[in-house]
Amino acid sequence: MNAKKIIFYNQKGGVGKTTACVNLGSALSELGQKVLLVDFDAQCNLTSAVSGNARKANIYQVLVGNVQAASAVQSTIFPNLYLIPGSLDVAGLPIELVNENNREFFLKTALEPLNSDFDYILLDCPPSLGLETMNALSWADYVIIPLQCEYMAMEGLNLIMRTISNVKKNLNPDLKVLGILFTMYSKRTLLNRQVVDDISQFFGDTVFKTIIPRTVRLSEAPSHGLPINFYDKSNIGAKAFSELAKEVISRVE
Ligand SMILES: Nc1ncnc2c1ncn2[C@@H]1O[C@H](COP(=O)(O)OP(=O)(O)OP(=O)(O)O)[C@@H](O)[C@H]1O
Ligand SMILES: [Mg+2]
Repeated sequence: MNAKKIIFYNQKGGVGKTTACVNLGSALSELGQKVLLVDFDAQCNLTSAVSGNARKANIYQVLVGNVQAASAVQSTIFPNLYLIPGSLDVAGLPIELVNENNREFFLKTALEPLNSDFDYILLDCPPSLGLETMNALSWADYVIIPLQCEYMAMEGLNLIMRTISNVKKNLNPDLKVLGILFTMYSKRTLLNRQVVDDISQFFGDTVFKTIIPRTVRLSEAPSHGLPINFYDKSNIGAKAFSELAKEVISRVE
């Protein structure tokens, strides 16, 4: 196995990064892929969204070298789905690592040993352009850009694309954009439709064909610790993430 490493990245908050990470991960594991979720946001929303077994260690301890990555991997109650939990301590990393050379590569070094253990490693980023995000971008093979279909989406996207191109030049030449993912889409909202049309026209095939609809079930599921395919299998959100999983597999292979 040589894990495909995917991050969910948008410096804007509340656009559906964590929702995409947990539900795409679960949908991929349902298709038989062995999936590791990594919570790299100090808010730890991803960790709360998947009911896990007893906590061993967290991503902060792995990153600073106190714990081997493999021993921080915990199983979840879902088959084929594993988790490295998040930690509030991640928020202190920019200060702690300020004097370190190669501080953008701590995550890459720490997670390297896991590449042969999983089909996919999906990592949830915080909403920032800070050191944590730079570590994530230096480690990843692919970026998924969750985007809310709202006013200013295009401006945000230009900043993301510029950051990614800088990272490719300076930190990670192999980084690729796997796709732009529209989230919280409501077909009755004219603005949503316009934004999807404009961005799709501009970015073409970079946009995933699958669009994640706005549905209250997707916002309820994390409070039960369940991915949408376990919370409400027949929901349109579950169907969308299942479609997205197939699209992702076809794009990476
Ligand atoms: N498709 C959707 N339909 C309805 N609600 C959604 C959908 N996607 C996300 N939400 C809700 O919107 C909020 C923000 O989503 P989420 O936490 O996934 O965003 P985020 O980008 O990870 O946020 P942050 O930047 O704070 O980490 C959450 O309350 C979530 O439950
Ligand atoms: Mg989040």
